[in-house]
Amino acid sequence: MDRYSSWLDPDNLSQEMMEYYANEALESVGSVAIIDKDFRMVYINDKYADSLGIDRLKSLGRPVSEVIDNTNMTNVAKTGHPELGVIYSRNGVNFVINKFPIMKNGEFMGIVGISTFQDNDKLISLKLRLDNLVKELNYYKDKSKKQNAAKYSIDDIISQNDTMLKLKLLVHKMASTKSTVLISGESGTGKELFAHALHSLSRRSGMPFQRINCSTIPENLIESELFGYEKGTFTGASKDGKLGEFEVANGGTMMMDEIDSLPLSMQAKLLRVLQEKEIRRIGGKETIDIDVRMIFTTNKDLLSMVRSGQFREDLYYRINVMNISIPPLRERKEDIPYIIERFIQKYNREMGMRVTGISPEALDLLMGYEWPGNIRELENYVERAFIYSTGGMLGLEHFDFLEKLPAADSIEGHEKPIFEETKLRDMVARVEREAISEAMSRFDGNKKRAAESLGVDRSVFYEKLRRYGIG
Ligand SMILES: Nc1ncnc2c1ncn2[C@@H]1O[C@H](COP(=O)(O)OP(=O)(O)OP(=O)(O)O)[C@@H](O)[C@H]1O
Ligand SMILES: [Mg+2]
Repeated sequence: MDRYSSWLDPDNLSQEMMEYYANEALESVGSVAIIDKDFRMVYINDKYADSLGIDRLKSLGRPVSEVIDNTNMTNVAKTGHPELGVIYSRNGVNFVINKFPIMKNGEFMGIVGISTFQDNDKLISLKLRLDNLVKELNYYKDKSKKQNAAKYSIDDIISQNDTMLKLKLLVHKMASTKSTVLISGESGTGKELFAHALHSLSRRSGMPFQRINCSTIPENLIESELFGYEKGTFTGASKDGKLGEFEVANGGTMMMDEIDSLPLSMQAKLLRVLQEKEIRRIGGKETIDIDVRMIFTTNKDLLSMVRSGQFREDLYYRINVMNISIPPLRERKEDIPYIIERFIQKYNREMGMRVTGISPEALDLLMGYEWPGNIRELENYVERAFIYSTGGMLGLEHFDFLEKLPAADSIEGHEKPIFEETKLRDMVARVEREAISEAMSRFDGNKKRAAESLGVDRSVFYEKLRRYGIG
């Protein structure tokens, strides 16, 4: 037996020694106080007593409220959970206190309160700063909601393509009406751009432009987001009730993105609003007149969704009054140089660079690509090229990631062994991992689009992201 294990032998450790160690430990932790289940002081260490300016021994057995005023212990007693980082002041000095319940067989026995003095100043200023930041964040959230003005105008839609030019003319005409518009097109083709332009050109441009994305709002929140609710309608809801998006958008324009993902139950409710032009808040009695220009967007074939019963036919005809169908970039490749030019101006401005253009070889490469992610993908690539560039012309070398993009990359690009793995499972995993990370970077980390581009179900895709540690 060595000397340490003999020390730890309970028979060799006197009661006195144990008390000594316990006391030293409690003094070294910081300011410590222990109270029993009736909130009487059982223990307070020297450090704490000194800082409070009280007599340690005289305070024992007294109600905690008399010794340490304005401290609240009932929460911890009631919940049985620790309460951490609570700031309270005494005689103008701030304390950060952590309170831990003492439980025995599930029964509340008392509380130990610990304040670590050395860190107090730092902790307090951090906590106060955090409180301020949270306030600020809420303020800006609120403000940005109120200021939901349109960001783009019709001149931001760059194109020399015939179909696109006709669409731009059509937008001018549509702007003077209140008709519902359905904008369809693949991901990244500029649906949102068109919606903004339509709002900006209309008489409603000074009124709110509200956007909601049907695929990102949790299903159980859609109804209250759209219609709002009266005060006290359900527990957990804000006390004062909440304005729904329709009311906020009143007088202006509302864009409902990815309308194809609206659950069938909500489709029926939306149809009612479009027909009656009025809404009723959840839990409310009166109806409220709604004057909102509705714009819907989708990258799905809604008609085939109607045929397969996933989308209500009556709603389809309601929202498909006027249609803007934006062609994918690969069907208007003549636009590529113009759009690149616009992005070069944009990133020169944003990054303070002096890129002067793109070399003919690099442009050739981009013209030969199929652009499954459309203009958003093109923009990502130009932005990426800017990061590699130091100014002057963007050349092939700034787009070399594109040359490696085709699936062949993983097979041809390797030197000797095509695959180091010998197990089929491992080979498949490697190719899968590469395909997934490529899709993720192509769609700028947007999991939904990356999954769609690979033709896999979102849940399967998430599973694989986790498995390969991507994103
Ligand atoms: N014709 C265009 N000229 C210039 N920029 C464009 C054009 N079309 C799209 N963009 C830009 O490409 C990006 C994607 O466009 P937008 O967000 O409107 O696409 P979307 O069709 O709404 O895509 P998603 O279906 O993924 O929501 C935006 O940054 C937008 O400004
Ligand atoms: Mg969009």
